[in-house]
Amino acid sequence: MSGICIAIDGPAAAGKSTVAKIVANRLGYIYLDTGAMYRTLTYAALKAGIELSNETQLKMLMPKINITFSPDEKNGGQRVFLNGEDVSDAIRSESVTSNVSEVAMVLAVREEMKARQLAFAENGGVVMDGRDIGTNVLPNAELKIFLLASVDERAIRRFNENKAKGYKHVPLDVLKQEIEARDHLDYTREHAPLKKAEDAIELDTTSLSIEDVSTRIFTLAQAKI
Ligand code: C5P
Repeated sequence: MSGICIAIDGPAAAGKSTVAKIVANRLGYIYLDTGAMYRTLTYAALKAGIELSNETQLKMLMPKINITFSPDEKNGGQRVFLNGEDVSDAIRSESVTSNVSEVAMVLAVREEMKARQLAFAENGGVVMDGRDIGTNVLPNAELKIFLLASVDERAIRRFNENKAKGYKHVPLDVLKQEIEARDHLDYTREHAPLKKAEDAIELDTTSLSIEDVSTRIFTLAQAKI
């Protein structure tokens, strides 16, 4: 498949994956949720009982970890598999969410995930969302978007999403704290921190609908194709 590369970065729960999926569908492009890859590794590390910031142990674990995606026919979007096991719901658990940024800080982890992500973008025609896509993984992406929204709005969105998907109830203020803590770690880490690429277009989605945001990105993409 040919086509351009689109990078969508931004802080936690800014709506990146929702709009990235819609834009990819409309363009007939591959969608890659890079956060799901870090989450899957974190899930595997927790399961294996390894120390999450231990680079040596993570390096030994990673070759044993195969992360794959397949379309979710029932709910739309994608299912995520760890060595063939469906971990789509497990990687959204509180334990994974509160530990993933620690794992994502480790240089060897970032290098391995970047190599895997680049394999998806080999032939273009991809929409990738994450934290370092425009700055580090696809610095030559034809279209870069940096999505923002107020932390209150992001916590409400995550709360409603949890409810809609039937995930465990987590109070709004706890979600807000968790989002702030994760953003802090992601913005301040040493390797490939969360950062707006200089040539990224910033969109504050606080008072925009999913439809508004995805249409804007789709229109920007069409102008580049
Ligand atoms: O996108 P999501 O919230 O699922 O990402 C989970 C975590 O994975 C982030 O908080 C961040 O620590 C890490 N991540 C990253 N780089 C990416 C995507 C996600 O460090 N490109």
